[in-house]
Amino acid sequence: MSECTHNCDTCSAGCASKEVNIEKLKLGKGSKIKKIIGVSSGKGGVGKSFVTSLIASGLQKKGYKVGILDADILGPSIPKSFGVLDKNVLATDNGLMIPKETRTGIKIISSNLMLENDTEPIIYRGALISGLLQQFYQEVDWGELDFLFIDMPPGTGDVPLTTYQSIPIDKVIIVSSPQSLVSMIVSKSINMADKMDIDILGIVENMSYVVCPNCDNKIEIFGKSNIDEVADENDTIVLAKLPMRVEYSKMVDEGMVEDIDISELDSTIDMLVRLVK
Ligand SMILES: Nc1ncnc2c1ncn2[C@@H]1O[C@H](COP(=O)(O)OP(=O)(O)OP(=O)(O)O)[C@@H](O)[C@H]1O
Ligand SMILES: [Mg+2]
Repeated sequence: MSECTHNCDTCSAGCASKEVNIEKLKLGKGSKIKKIIGVSSGKGGVGKSFVTSLIASGLQKKGYKVGILDADILGPSIPKSFGVLDKNVLATDNGLMIPKETRTGIKIISSNLMLENDTEPIIYRGALISGLLQQFYQEVDWGELDFLFIDMPPGTGDVPLTTYQSIPIDKVIIVSSPQSLVSMIVSKSINMADKMDIDILGIVENMSYVVCPNCDNKIEIFGKSNIDEVADENDTIVLAKLPMRVEYSKMVDEGMVEDIDISELDSTIDMLVRLVK
């Protein structure tokens, strides 16, 4: 294929970025969001939901108004990690869904809130999933927010594509973990965002090392990380390197993610604050 000139009007290639010109969705009446931040990864289980929850909590604790849209329709995990167990999503008089609030007041919406039983699977095909995702953006009474985080399912499939095409995302945070193939996996996510003309804030490397609960020694179980080189190669930056700690996963499991104190994300949080100042 010839080199992209970024002028879709004169180009005959049928690439995904062409569809960027699809009109973006509008928020429901009364909702206003200053910045929308997507959190994405090329591969599952690297800690997208964990990182989303920590950054959202950090901003909420600083006094910003924050929401999380759990776009992982088939594998929703946000409500549970915040201990939001009440499933009764009510509607406003205008028929908009009222998001649930966490203990510190983060507004969340998730397909998990629509299921009476947590172990019930959502058996939806792509089009229905994308439709629900769009409803979670448009038909929710988000009110006035400084930040809306979109916790995406892994990979570069239907939902990330619909999200990038239809929601006016301001920045994307890529989450990765230090394993082999990381370069290829991270580059894929970055290339997808690039093709869709979405700005990347940077990469958070999660599970960068393990901290021994007995002696506090750092153990690089996946070997030496090469995330700095990967970031360089992709013209982006490493925002943070987060340790893997037994107490973190315990707190997530107990629905206490808001109580995790993690200074490694302070500079990322400051960077986001500067976007709304
Ligand atoms: N730094 C960490 N220390 C300890 N446990 C962690 C850490 N990061 C994530 N975990 C745990 O690892 C598991 C996977 O994390 P998480 O659900 O955030 O990943 P994900 O990328 O959102 O996964 P999926 O692709 O399935 O959505 C969770 O149980 C989470 O609590
Ligand atoms: Mg997740």
